[in-house]
Amino acid sequence: MAEQPSCLGILISGRGSNMLALAEAVRDGRIPNTQIALVVSDHANASGLVRAEEQGLKTLVIERRGRSREEHDRETVAALREHKVDIVCLAGYMRLLSGYFIEAYRHRILNIHPSLLPAFPGLAAHKQVLEHGVKWTGCTVHFVDETLDGGPIIAQRIVPVLDEDTEETLSVRILEQEHRLYAEALALIVGGNYEIVGRRVVARSGLSN
Ligand code: GRF
Repeated sequence: MAEQPSCLGILISGRGSNMLALAEAVRDGRIPNTQIALVVSDHANASGLVRAEEQGLKTLVIERRGRSREEHDRETVAALREHKVDIVCLAGYMRLLSGYFIEAYRHRILNIHPSLLPAFPGLAAHKQVLEHGVKWTGCTVHFVDETLDGGPIIAQRIVPVLDEDTEETLSVRILEQEHRLYAEALALIVGGNYEIVGRRVVARSGLSN
């Protein structure tokens, strides 16, 4: 019997270029046996919503509306469950998740961050990179746990920092790599060909970085 396809829920807050990169990778088979069930934004005016709809993806806005983090997350988790989502991808989702959300999808929530974690977690990663003066940076796809950008690392890719770089130029070059890396990392996770050993995510049959 054919294996049930993985069902993705993608959470965005803004332009959603990583969401679109995942949608393209699902469509062209780089992420096999997978469908995108739902794109959720916590902002009604996120430009990524329009882009998702143009791709024929189902979208939903779940705004915070003055509720606590957990109340908001309960509504989001209910929507994801209703759409039978089994893997959640954060793609520029600018909210920390509550313990309730993390527990509901433990080791099934992925995030992409524009630095080589554990260096430069949190907001304004490119600014932190330039201010610190590192010569190499990159991007990281990791599982989300209760810590800020601190869950087990699934995949990373390196990008040089050039002397003439600004936040703008650096972020453009990293973003290109993010789009590739996220698709590769997600393909590994939906394929199930990995194990988590302590903090290490170990591929059973290799992930090309
Ligand atoms: C990306 O740089 C991602 O790494 C970070 O937020 C940005 C989102 O960009 N978490 P986009 O909305 O996917 O274009």
